[in-house]
Amino acid sequence: MHRRGRAAFAVVASLLLASARAEVVFTDEEVQRILAHGPWPPAFVRDPSNRVSGSAAAIDLGRRLFGDAPLSANGYVACVSCHQTDRAWTDGVPRARGMGPLDRNSPSVANAWLNRWFGWGGAADSLWMASLRPLLDPNEIGTTPQRVVERFKLNDDLACRYRRAFGRAPDHADETLLVNMAKAIAAFQETLTTGRTPFDDFRDALARGDRRALAAYPESARRGLKLFVGRGNCFFCHSGPAFTNGEFHDVGVPYFVAPGKADGGRYAGIQALRASRFNLLGPYNDDEARSTATKTRHVELAARHWGEFKTPGLRNVAVTAPYMHNGSLATLRDVVRHYSELNEERLHADGERILRPLKLAPSEIDDLVAFLESLTDREGARRVLPPLDALPCR
Ligand code: HEC
Ligand code: HEC
Repeated sequence: MHRRGRAAFAVVASLLLASARAEVVFTDEEVQRILAHGPWPPAFVRDPSNRVSGSAAAIDLGRRLFGDAPLSANGYVACVSCHQTDRAWTDGVPRARGMGPLDRNSPSVANAWLNRWFGWGGAADSLWMASLRPLLDPNEIGTTPQRVVERFKLNDDLACRYRRAFGRAPDHADETLLVNMAKAIAAFQETLTTGRTPFDDFRDALARGDRRALAAYPESARRGLKLFVGRGNCFFCHSGPAFTNGEFHDVGVPYFVAPGKADGGRYAGIQALRASRFNLLGPYNDDEARSTATKTRHVELAARHWGEFKTPGLRNVAVTAPYMHNGSLATLRDVVRHYSELNEERLHADGERILRPLKLAPSEIDDLVAFLESLTDREGARRVLPPLDALPCR
């Protein structure tokens, strides 16, 4: 649609809305912002840095490895311990615990493939790099190439699936073995996309000008949506179809982990990213043109990055409590209250100008929560995966 068509259309859409529900009227600008939160789901795009991205054999192997506790140093921890299928790919606790305690909250891995940076501080620049870190981290899975080779020796079926995915036996006890595993696990996670939500139905009805379909969206969610794309300024960072700009901000969540110990957030993330040989500038990037490495090459370390964390996407957020990088807020109501009461002195001096204490009325807090809840898909917390290939691999 060209510009003029779009504006005229927006006016019609807002008239439609106004007549459907007298209370909530969206401005043309707000309508454009609402439309920008879709369409959903997004089309799959292969990751050129991962040569098994989109490969059925790798997805199958990756799914099995995602749940394989014997790979871990104590035999009890797998990805699925913290990214659980019946908890919307999170673990329900403020801070994760694997082999040892971690300082951060486990994010959902659904929609993670849409990120440009991974982890709360963006210490990884690809999904496979983010999947390698927990394999190596002694506080998470803490495995080694030797251990992995032993694991495959004990399980012919798994070894056969590795051969199918990578065209060689998993008998090379080297770094490449672990990177390949991470790439297969990444291929599996690329299949995890949240489903359509009541918000998406509303957004598409708005795009079509379908008055009847619009009316199905609860009024409180509608009022909350208006705050989200209007006075609340939430859309500024929680933008686009996944409700994140993929960038890093300080929204005033304390970053002290313990007295005298701080989480450097984005600052530490950039340092770790640059220091790692597993980033996209390193030898394991399968994209020969290296076009995928541009953002990593240009990332700059600045003092303001200290205490900034990645804007999380908000799809299915109602089923992934607790919240924030350190799990410090228990409910969505607590999060909305946090934005309502924001302590501006806590924010960076150079200012996240976009953030102001919103001083919301109790009913407005309810409305924003209702809107956030309308971003939940039909499966909710309990993710149902298609049955695994039951035939033995040979
Ligand atoms: C002990 C709990 C734990 C285990 C086990 C674990 N994770 Fe995580 N995961 C986390 C935490 C905590 C973070 C946030 C890390 C950070 O901010 O750097 C995270 C972040 C991620 C991310 C980044 C998501 C995003 O949106 O940025 C991905 C992808 C991921 N994990 C995949 C995996 C895979 C694959 C495995 C298994 C190989 C795994 N995790 C094992 C707790 C865990
Ligand atoms: C300046 C950018 C920015 C704005 C504006 C903003 N957010 Fe956030 N939001 C973030 C960041 C960054 C985090 C993670 C902060 C952290 O963990 O320290 C976050 C976290 C959240 C979370 C927790 C999600 C999770 O999985 O832990 C929710 C819910 C949320 N924001 C909703 C909102 C709402 C509602 C508004 C408007 C009132 C809003 N945000 C405005 C950047 C922003």
